[in-house]
Amino acid sequence: MGIEEDKLPSSVHAIVFKDSDSLEGKSIKIEGYDFNEGVNYSKLLKSFVSTGFQASNLGDAIGVVNQMLDWRLVDENITEDCSEEERDPTFRESVRCKVFLGFTSNLISSGLRDIIRYLTEHHMVDVVVTTAGGIEEDLIKCLAHTYKGDFSLPGAYLRAKGLNRIGNLLVPNENYCKFEEWIIPIFDKMLKEQREENILWTPSKVIARLGKEINNERSYLYWAYKNNIPVFCPGITDGSLGDMLYFHSYHNPGLIIDVVQDIRAINSEAVHASPRKTGVIILGGGLPKHHICNANMMRNGADYAVYINTAQEFDGSDSGAHPDEAVSWGKIRGSAKTVKVHCDATIAFPLLVAETFASRREAFEKANS
Ligand SMILES: NC(=O)c1ccc[n+]([C@@H]2O[C@H](COP(=O)([O-])OP(=O)(O)OC[C@H]3O[C@@H](n4cnc5c(N)ncnc54)[C@H](O)[C@@H]3O)[C@@H](O)[C@H]2O)c1
Repeated sequence: MGIEEDKLPSSVHAIVFKDSDSLEGKSIKIEGYDFNEGVNYSKLLKSFVSTGFQASNLGDAIGVVNQMLDWRLVDENITEDCSEEERDPTFRESVRCKVFLGFTSNLISSGLRDIIRYLTEHHMVDVVVTTAGGIEEDLIKCLAHTYKGDFSLPGAYLRAKGLNRIGNLLVPNENYCKFEEWIIPIFDKMLKEQREENILWTPSKVIARLGKEINNERSYLYWAYKNNIPVFCPGITDGSLGDMLYFHSYHNPGLIIDVVQDIRAINSEAVHASPRKTGVIILGGGLPKHHICNANMMRNGADYAVYINTAQEFDGSDSGAHPDEAVSWGKIRGSAKTVKVHCDATIAFPLLVAETFASRREAFEKANS
């Protein structure tokens, strides 16, 4: 018997038009910005959350950072083990989330350096972690400029011209010569203080000293020094700073930089954060991402986490790992609000800062006064 072709079996219709659960009132409806409302950047950014894909992730990240910044101890129930001070409503109103900010070196080579300077200038973050380039590039920019180039400029051509390329940025070799002239006498002074005053230098102490010595309001390290924001960099020798320490070790040997004191210092920032909550904002992967998360493991995890990075998780890299992988290690709490934005941080982070830290500038100034 042949198959009946001119009659649709009723089961096919039922399969295609299967009954669905209602999402009404449970999920955000997808809709984008309506430019009939004019060009309103704040409204445009607020529309990201309902736009979908990474726009929604950025919108969610803005939401998580705002929760991080708005949290006060007074929002929590008073527990039995609270001290007298912790029961005082004025004190409870003053206790805010401790914010750890991490970023890769290239972001300081880029214009994000000026966004990060704004955050340290107004004491909007509490602990900073970066890699060596994230220290030296800030200082070098006070001595000479970084320029826009092109990703496709040939290496041999640039080498002949004494120009170094970082993505589509160009850094003249001369900048590093100026850096050497500036930093070597500072290392000499630090070595003298080590010998005569028994100062034990650590990467964060060296960085604070360099922030003091640069004495330049365009530097994020200057403001971190002024506002007592510790800047950690356990890989301080993997960059031009390492070259300078190498040259200095021949010119005037003996300077010691102890990383052990700094692992105590950063872990203490997390261990003794209580009764504050902790929030982590990490741009890019590598050392800054791991170092911040690892410190937060010492307090059974951070309470809020926002990652902005382009790394993928399929290769098992820590750079690409989603916040949930850190939950498995106790580096982020299972109850934490988390989001990863898959995006170049040079695009996403200024937009995030505009809708979070920058819109709370007055509140920060009041809290810090
Ligand atoms: N300007 C520089 O980049 C520079 C200068 C001197 C030394 N170095 C040294 O190179 C080493 C490696 O650099 P690193 O650890 O800072 O990070 P990295 O450049 O190796 O980046 C680590 C990961 O972060 C993510 N990432 C990087 N840039 C991003 C962006 N714009 N947006 C989103 N995600 C991004 C990527 O997934 C990347 O794989 C460090 O030891 C550093 O000191 C770098």
